[in-house]
Amino acid sequence: MTVNRKSKIENPKSQTGAIVRIAGPVVVAKGLDSVRLYDVVHVGHLGLVGEVIRLANDLATIQVYEDTGGLRVGEPVLSSGSPFTVELGPGLLGSIFDGVQRPLPVLRQQQGDFIARGGTAPALDRQKLWEFQPWIQAGQHLSEGDVLGVVKETAYLEHGLLVPPGFNGVVEEIRSGPHTIEQTIVLVRPDGRPLSAPLLELSMLQRWPARQPRPHRGKLDPTTPLVTGQRVVDTFFPITKGGTAIIPGGFGSGKTVLEQTLAKWANADIIVYVGCGERGNEMTDVLEEFPKLEDPNTGGALMDRTILVANTSNMPVAAREASIYTGIAMAEYFRDMGYDVALMADSTSRWGEALREVSGRLEEMPGEEGYPAYLLSRLAEFYERGGRISCLGQPERTGSVTLVGAVSPPGGDFSEPMTQNSLRVTGAFWGLDTDLARRRHFPAINWISSYSQYKLDDWFNRQVAEDWAAQRQAARALLQRETELQEIVQLVGADALAEAEKADLAIGRLLREDFLQQSAVGDDAFCPLEKTYWLLKVILTFYKHITDALQRAVPLEQALAPVLLDQIARMKEWPPETAAGRVGELLKQIEEFFGR
Ligand SMILES: Nc1ncnc2c1ncn2[C@@H]1O[C@H](COP(=O)(O)OP(=O)(O)O)[C@@H](O)[C@H]1O
Ligand SMILES: [Mg+2]
Repeated sequence: MTVNRKSKIENPKSQTGAIVRIAGPVVVAKGLDSVRLYDVVHVGHLGLVGEVIRLANDLATIQVYEDTGGLRVGEPVLSSGSPFTVELGPGLLGSIFDGVQRPLPVLRQQQGDFIARGGTAPALDRQKLWEFQPWIQAGQHLSEGDVLGVVKETAYLEHGLLVPPGFNGVVEEIRSGPHTIEQTIVLVRPDGRPLSAPLLELSMLQRWPARQPRPHRGKLDPTTPLVTGQRVVDTFFPITKGGTAIIPGGFGSGKTVLEQTLAKWANADIIVYVGCGERGNEMTDVLEEFPKLEDPNTGGALMDRTILVANTSNMPVAAREASIYTGIAMAEYFRDMGYDVALMADSTSRWGEALREVSGRLEEMPGEEGYPAYLLSRLAEFYERGGRISCLGQPERTGSVTLVGAVSPPGGDFSEPMTQNSLRVTGAFWGLDTDLARRRHFPAINWISSYSQYKLDDWFNRQVAEDWAAQRQAARALLQRETELQEIVQLVGADALAEAEKADLAIGRLLREDFLQQSAVGDDAFCPLEKTYWLLKVILTFYKHITDALQRAVPLEQALAPVLLDQIARMKEWPPETAAGRVGELLKQIEEFFGR
């Protein structure tokens, strides 16, 4: 949170009240008459960060983002006069923030590993100089969203500096060259003001109320996939850039691994990773691992395109609720520059739990399983912030925010409210299956119950191979058939099956083991679309030859030649650069084996 603790002096709207009641993370204060809903307040002598969530009868109810232990009735509450805002500007990339955008490495430097309550530091570095390269000229008229110019934030990314929403004026002066984020880079005469009025000074630093969607010119149809490098996703359940997906799954089914895999490999320009780990050390792993990784698209550091929002273990549940908004506001900001951003949230259930806890403290009428009745509308509002959009301002550009939220249903039961409500407002459902995970089939995405509403066949047929969609349908049908046959085998045994059915079972297994299964570590962690296509081609070609051979009364054992099975099983490990060539050879070998 960027609100200065001395804000009372600077902000005439600020005001001091006093605590009258404390209930866990919820505090009630009186004497804050001019405070508005969702204003940020600082609670108690420690100045704990909180947000006003209800106003009634001269009382303000506050959700506090830090541990309220030791707080006493009568302690002061200082309102900041502004809502929960995030800082936006150069320096976001590569940063690690907590749920209210405090920079964790800076806090750790100041305070050591256990971050004291009430601790604070601005989100963005105030000293660092950024080289401003203007795109505008003096005398030019500016409107909201226009690109003032850029700074090279990382080796591979130009950070667009935008005219803030709701602003118009004429450029009076441009100051190119190195500046800190607070220094003035452009002076503007706002529209409709007298000549004698002071000029408006624009710097690289902007603030935005995190709970409010950033404006744009309109939503566009998403047309291109976010390539995830995960075969099961890209082939069967693809997501568009600007799409929304959920990953529901029981404990240990692989949600976190999948979210992190997507964060590493998905072909977005920017990744915002919001983590509230279910295991204590989980976020520590991310914080240690990510900075060492290389960006597969650029060869630069992966952190250069990544922002991590990590909830520290000593932050109470309410802070996790805020972290989702901290993340998406930053995602929208880069979207508005014209980038494709992907936000991974692990796990949105922590957010739902925060809503439930606070709603309980407010003694609201509970809905299903104690969640508030507005759970669905909150989820809808959040996922609505995903999408591909036409950005405000000049030059014309489009950007997107893709949202992928993990959901942790207790006991892995998908009928619970978070899963059910989330799937109503999202486009793709990657359901993780505890049974598959137990059998070490990873990613444990259930290929029967999962789905994607995004229609991308045309794109894949055009961009990868003209029979992409046909292959996908054939493979999906085979997998479906395998499931049916397995049920029969369970009932009456394998002997009841015809040879052709046994062949279907065998190929279904190949598809599962040699295509769908994909390790998150090692060379197979990312599979380019071409390789995905070729792997499927080999398996389906093999299948076709087997069915033909069975017609010619060749025994199935003979058709399922171990030499071929062996090679098919190893295809995944082939380095992508050489995969196409080696697949060519293997296909030839298959043809020769079957005598064509
Ligand atoms: N794609 C994968 N490849 C290899 N192992 C995986 C994969 N996905 C999950 N696992 C294994 O499953 C374990 C639990 O996964 P995790 O993502 O932490 O589960 P969840 O977040 O659903 O509780 C991991 O520690 C890892 O051993
Ligand atoms: Mg997890």
